[in-house]
Parts: sequence; C-alpha cells; structure tokens
Amino acid sequence: MKSILTVMLAAMLMLAQPALAESYPEFNFETRTVTLNSGYEMPVLGLGMFSLSDSEAENSTYWALKAGFRLIDTARIYGNEAAVGRGLRRAIDEGIVTREEVFITTKMWTSDFSNGDAAIDASLQRLGVDYIDLMILHHSQPHNDVDAYQAMERAVAAGKLRSIGLSNYYEPEDFDRVVNATTIRPALLQNETHPYHQSGEMKAHIAQYGTVLESWFPLGGRGNTRTLFNDPVIAGVAQAHGVSSAQVIIRWHLQAGNICIPGSSNEQHIIEDYDVWDFELTDEEMAQMEALERDERFADY
Ligand SMILES: NC(=O)c1ccc[n+]([C@@H]2O[C@H](COP(=O)([O-])OP(=O)(O)OC[C@H]3O[C@@H](n4cnc5c(N)ncnc54)[C@H](OP(=O)(O)O)[C@@H]3O)[C@@H](O)[C@H]2O)c1
Repeated sequence: MKSILTVMLAAMLMLAQPALAESYPEFNFETRTVTLNSGYEMPVLGLGMFSLSDSEAENSTYWALKAGFRLIDTARIYGNEAAVGRGLRRAIDEGIVTREEVFITTKMWTSDFSNGDAAIDASLQRLGVDYIDLMILHHSQPHNDVDAYQAMERAVAAGKLRSIGLSNYYEPEDFDRVVNATTIRPALLQNETHPYHQSGEMKAHIAQYGTVLESWFPLGGRGNTRTLFNDPVIAGVAQAHGVSSAQVIIRWHLQAGNICIPGSSNEQHIIEDYDVWDFELTDEEMAQMEALERDERFADY
C-alpha cells in the first residue's frame, strides 16, 4: 500500500511538470503559424542570420519583414543581434510591422551557460527589445546546460523571455536529461534538418512534450545548397510546380511540420523564399522527398 508521503510526493511532481501533450503541434497554413506548448503563436517560416555580417543582417532583417517574414533567427555567437535590432526598428519606423507582430529568436552560447541571467540581459540589450519571443540553448553541454536552462526559466517568470527551447540535442536521452531536471517543457528543438537528414527519431520523441522541430541548414547550408538544389527528385518536383528547388525544399519542411529558417543575404532570394504559399506538394511528392533520407549531415558539430 502506498504511504501518504508517496502519494503526496507524486501529486507534487505532477504539479511541477505539466501533463504531456499527446501529439506534435499542428501547423496552421492560413495564419502561417504554429501554437507552441508555451501558448504563444510562432510563425512557421523565418529568416536565419548565421554567418551574416552586420550590414547584411540589418538589411536581411529589414528585407525579410518587407517580404512578409515575421520570424527572425539570430544568436549571440553570430555577433549580429544588434544589427537585427536595427533592421527591426527600421521596419517598425516605416510602419511595415509592429514589435508584437515579429517573433525574434536568439540563442545562448555555451560559454555563457554559467552566467545565464547576465547573458539574457545582454541579448535583450543588444537586440534593443524588452522581451525575446524565444531563446534556446545553442548546444548541448551536459556539465552546465541545466543551469543555463534554469536561468531561462527565471527569465520567463520575469517576462524577459516568452518561450524557451533547445538546439543541437541529437539523442532522445540527452533531450530528456534537460527535460527531467527542469520545469518548463522546451517549446522547440532546433537541429540540422533537411531532405538528407530529416530528424525523424527526434521529432517522434519530442512529440510527447508538445515540442516542435525547427530546421537549421534547411537548404543544406551555405556552400552545400547545390547538392540539394540539383538532386533529381527535388529538381523534378520544382519543375512540375514551376518553382525553384529552394521553394520546394522550404515547402517540404512546412508540410512535414518543420519550422523552416533559410538564411540569405540576397533580397531576391528572400522574396523567393517567402513565396511558398500558393503551391502544395502532393502526397506522392512528399513520399518521394521522404525517401531522400540518408542520415547525412552537412555540418560536423
Ligand atoms: N542552431 C544552430 O547550431 C544553427 C546552425 C546553423 C544555422 N542555424 C540557423 O539556421 C539558419 C539557416 O541555416 P543557414 O543559413 O546556415 O543555411 P541554409 O538556409 O540551409 O542555406 C543558406 C544558403 O542558401 C542560399 N539561399 C537562400 N535562399 C536561396 C534561394 N532562394 N536561391 C538560392 N540560394 C538561396 C543562401 O545564399 P544567399 O545569401 O546568396 O541567398 C546561402 O548560401 C541560419 O541562418 C541560422 O539562423 C542554426
């Protein structure tokens, strides 16, 4: 027979951890958003800032918002948070968007994990905003990533961060290590994901937490895009729809339920990358894309 203490302990644990969601979050193609397990709505297509210089990041942010994007993905380690803030303010000043309409993601770098509270304040200051829509830990780092995650939890309570999540956790056990030591379920997992590395195992695993997958290197990454663009299946689907290979890959991510954040410093590419709402891959084309899986990553980190 269970002791009263055991029952009380179980009840306290249940209160500490919200009930598990039963399924993977569904994308709404009308609003072009998904509702995160935090309750906040997040655009499913955004622009990424990796490897962009200050002037490129500022312009790309501004061009993206002008083209219709409402999600910008940056990181402390990219060194361009302040530039993203300038691009955002330019778009706000010109009446293109309001702050509330834009979803800003940034990432806490591993060397800041022991100083999470200060790192969050520094990102807020560089971005020039009074809250960040989503902050994620940039990489798994078992010796202190739980400390960093707990700093993000404190910042959620303080209204500085709205949603929090993880990036570069490739084993279910590693993801669960953080989940089991913390209170707020990760809203999102950002991992390298594209047609040659579709992240099926992690996606199935995180569904129980209502966590959504976001694809980095969605087009294969700078320097590798030709490999995917010239893939006969992708090029064939593109030809069938009269669109580019980049558009087919982006559309595939969205229909597969992956938040997609292509990176670009080219205004024409940015406009093209957002123009993916007027065509749809058929079930057969989605199956052909799924069959491209070869568990092959382009990055070695
Ligand atoms: N969490 C992580 O560890 C991590 C790691 C890497 C990336 N990320 C995030 O994920 C985002 C996306 O990754 P990424 O930018 O490295 O790689 P990517 O989006 O897979 O590829 C970027 C490349 O695609 C090109 N491109 C974009 N649109 C195009 C189009 N319509 N036609 C032809 N080329 C096009 C870009 O060139 P142009 O500039 O000429 O358009 C650039 O060379 C990053 O920006 C970053 O925000 C996160």
